[in-house]
Amino acid sequence: MSDFYVTTPIYYVNDLPHVGHIYSTIVGDTIARYRRLRGDRVRFLTGTDEHGQKIERAAEEQGLKPIALADRVVDRYFELWRQMGMSHDDFIRTTEARHAPGVSEIIRRIADSGDFYVDRHEGLYCPLCELFYTEKELDENGNCPIHGTPVELRSEENVFFRLSKYGDALLAHYDANPNFVRPQSRLNEVRQFVAQGLRDLSVSRTSVDWALPFPGYDGHTVYVWLDALTNYISALGFGRDDASLYDTFWAGQGESVHIVGKDILRFHAVYWPAFLLSAGLPLPDTVWAHGWWLRDDKKVSKSVGNVVRPDELMESFGVDALRYFVLRDMVFGQDASFSDEAFVDRYNADLANDLGNTVSRLVTLSRRAFGDRLPPASVSEGPLTGPASEAVEAYHRAMADWAFQDALRALWRLLQETNQYLVRNEPWKKLKDEAAQGEVAEVLWSSLEAVRIVSVGLLPFLPEKAPAVLRTLGAEVPENLGSMAWGGLPAGGELPAVTPLFPRIDKKSYLGPAKQAPKESKPVTETAEKSQAPKKDSAEKEPPKNVGDQAAEPPAERITIDKFFDIQLRVANVVAAEAVPKSKKLLKLTVDVGETEHRTVVAGVAKKYSPEDLVGKQVVVVANLKPAKLMGIESNGMVLAATEDGLPFLVRPESEVPPGTRVS
Ligand code: MSP
Repeated sequence: MSDFYVTTPIYYVNDLPHVGHIYSTIVGDTIARYRRLRGDRVRFLTGTDEHGQKIERAAEEQGLKPIALADRVVDRYFELWRQMGMSHDDFIRTTEARHAPGVSEIIRRIADSGDFYVDRHEGLYCPLCELFYTEKELDENGNCPIHGTPVELRSEENVFFRLSKYGDALLAHYDANPNFVRPQSRLNEVRQFVAQGLRDLSVSRTSVDWALPFPGYDGHTVYVWLDALTNYISALGFGRDDASLYDTFWAGQGESVHIVGKDILRFHAVYWPAFLLSAGLPLPDTVWAHGWWLRDDKKVSKSVGNVVRPDELMESFGVDALRYFVLRDMVFGQDASFSDEAFVDRYNADLANDLGNTVSRLVTLSRRAFGDRLPPASVSEGPLTGPASEAVEAYHRAMADWAFQDALRALWRLLQETNQYLVRNEPWKKLKDEAAQGEVAEVLWSSLEAVRIVSVGLLPFLPEKAPAVLRTLGAEVPENLGSMAWGGLPAGGELPAVTPLFPRIDKKSYLGPAKQAPKESKPVTETAEKSQAPKKDSAEKEPPKNVGDQAAEPPAERITIDKFFDIQLRVANVVAAEAVPKSKKLLKLTVDVGETEHRTVVAGVAKKYSPEDLVGKQVVVVANLKPAKLMGIESNGMVLAATEDGLPFLVRPESEVPPGTRVS
């Protein structure tokens, strides 16, 4: 067992939380849960940054005292983290009495090192960053390089910290600890910044009242970043009588990681370690800088006015769907774009379809075959054991590197393998076959076991849903990830009927009205029975259908078989394909339908397929349609495709058959 300390940035209380803010906390929570499930002793800290001019000004604008604004906003954070089931062990507010002694103590130590002096300071100041910039550092419009907002010319007397003295020590530390800043590309940026030469840093203000007094310098208050950064140790008791947490999680042998956004990397990877070096205190092991969530290519932020509020998203999709989306769609470290459409697509494809439907299909089949019980067999070695252990290995490797998207991908690969294994074995065709009961039991048990392993791996990601999935599978919710080893599913255990896990979201209804009135409009979700509990008598011949296949329309009027046979459906080989000029939808295909001559068919499939995708492939065509002209080209038939959310998915035989074969 090792000790693991993980922190999020502490959030400013001038604004309500948005998706950018909660991202750091979701990441912290996921990694904290992962390490706990690996058996580590974990301390996970989050909190709020409540002093400084930014808060002072925001409060003034709202006619409030700064502490009243802080109290109001912090309540929203408490409520949000409660709603989201965040597993932090502590929440620190920098206005709490327990914080100030830590700040005084670090200042006392830095002063003892002789690293403070007083000087008059004139410079270009960004009140949002609470930082002075040189002219060179401003953006092309002469504005703050982070916020793009005007800087102010300021002149005041400040206490300075001798940051310039620590350049070499910092560079040596980066060289000796290549994981001090992750990802690697960010370390290079930081190294470059330090190598250019550091200027001393002003660490007091005489113009800001809403701040801690600076010990030893009357009329000065503590610069908000020196105050804020110290939260990571003050919360552990640094500067107070009982510092046992500090001794364990900061000064001990374990690992400590700060999660930060890339905009605050310099504070954490340059200023903070320099303060600590000066104070003679240990440094954190890693500063992990993640990218920004963008909307329309701009950082999601209050000043840009493009915020995505998590409560609205969660109301619509649930907490775990939001967690899944941000962890799956952002390559940790890089920027990612937020879009409602990507969100719904990801939810429907991965959670409703791949996970939800696989679980519901398997549970339903097992109940049908074995009288509402799990299969009465276990398999110690089978076609899924290799893929399962590969997936588990890839998962842990990715998690060690905080590559959440890769960890999830590894689990989804196992889900795909499981589905392919089911399709190969077709247990639904053998449910009533006495002689095949042993085989059916083994196929279903192995598939359920693979999905159980996936679900255990999902515990840090989906803390609410993963246990629900495990219970649905008739499996235990384990205490640690050791149970990702093959073989944990009980044979023949009780198996209750499936309850819906991830009801599919109707994209059109969601995106339509939701865009205009996100508060009132809820996504239209299909009912439990319809979306994830297949009907009894359909399962014998065919696998239960994916929810996406279930048409919302009422059944059409029935026709006789003769009428159906009037339509000639035939398999065709695509011999050539080309784009249709000026059309985004159409492709011109030359197909072989088993006749002496090839035909031209114009197909509306270009939104999903390029001509190269189709040449050499088989499709199904309506072969006896009257010719029709499309964009000036005569089409002699129609290609069959299932259309989902405006995208065509071609219908084709499962394995190759001679061209011209009749489909019926
Ligand atoms: N109070 C400081 C941090 C002090 S830590 C000792 C602060 N607060 S903040 O509320 O402005 O931002 C907190 C975190 O949210 C930062 O890591 C920031 O990068 C992150 N995000 C804010 N907007 C973001 C996005 N649009 N996308 C991802 N994260 C971003 O900075």
